This record gives sequence, C-alpha cells and structure tokens, in this order.
Amino acid sequence: MILENKLGIQDSAELAREEERISKKKAVELFEKGILDKLECGKFSSLKIIHKYLFDDIYYFAGEIRNVNLAKGNFRFAPLMYLETALENIDKMPQSNFNEIIEKYVEMNIAHPFREGNGRNSRIWLDCILKNKLVKL
Ligand SMILES: Nc1ncnc2c1ncn2[C@@H]1O[C@H](COP(=O)(O)OP(=O)(O)OP(=O)(O)O)[C@@H](O)[C@H]1O
Ligand SMILES: [Mg+2]
Repeated sequence: MILENKLGIQDSAELAREEERISKKKAVELFEKGILDKLECGKFSSLKIIHKYLFDDIYYFAGEIRNVNLAKGNFRFAPLMYLETALENIDKMPQSNFNEIIEKYVEMNIAHPFREGNGRNSRIWLDCILKNKLVKL
C-alpha cells in the first residue's frame, strides 16, 4: 500500500526517500526560522502546525486529524471515536517537570493523531516543551 501523495509518486521506496528529504529540510527550517519559539508548546494546536509545516508539500492530510483507525505491531492507537476527546484531555495535562512532560508525550503517542509522520512530528513537539518548560525550571 502506498499513501496518496502530492508528489504523484507511486513507488514506496521513492516516496520514503522524498518524504525523508523534504521533511528533514522542513524540520531544519522550523528550528532555524524560529517558528517553534512562537508556538504554544504542549498544545495540540502546535502539533498540528508542526505537522502541516513538515508534510504540506507531500500529503493532502498534512495538519489534519486522521480518519482511519491505526495500529503498529500489536498496539492499537486511540480509536477514532475517542481521538478528539483524547486530544482535549492531553491539552490539559500538566507539563511542569520532566515526568509530567514525558507522560504527556506518551499519551500523545497513544493518540497518534495523524495518518503518517506522528513520530517525527511529536519528537519536535516534545523538544519544544522541554526547551520552553524545563530550561526555565
Ligand atoms: N508498537 C508500537 N507501540 C506504540 N507506539 C509505537 C509502536 N510502533 C511505533 N510506535 C510509535 O509510532 C511512531 C511512528 O509513527 P508514524 O509512522 O506515524 O511516524 P513517523 O514519523 O513516520 O515514523 P518514525 O517515528 O519512525 O520516524 C514511533 O516514533 C513511535 O513513537
Ligand atoms: Mg511512518
């Protein structure tokens, strides 16, 4: 199976290569242009902005919540019918020390809000929370 993409690529190895190249370039921009510094770290709204930025040239669903159920290995991510509630609850989770931040990140991994790119996306989101909250402790 290959995800429909804006690049018109139909070969999975080529899509993986282009996706990596483009999303890495975009990730560098997020840091270098100071875009992350302007985000409200730890909110779903910021995760959505990061996803849109990383993947907008590649996928139509960039920044959009998934509309399918997803699993990896034996693990099922949040069922679609609970996803929006889960995201609202995660927004309210505290993030004032290292353990709270990691707990929040774990819950966001379980939510897995996007069809693809959740790992890369949420690692940058985590970085944003750690820098903004932890550095100031
Ligand atoms: N079996 C599992 N149980 C729970 N979470 C998992 C499992 N396998 C992978 N994950 C999580 O899913 C993420 C991958 O999801 P997805 O493919 O949407 O993101 P990605 O950015 O394309 O991948 P990657 O994180 O490998 O760069 C991993 O980074 C990890 O956080
Ligand atoms: Mg992936």
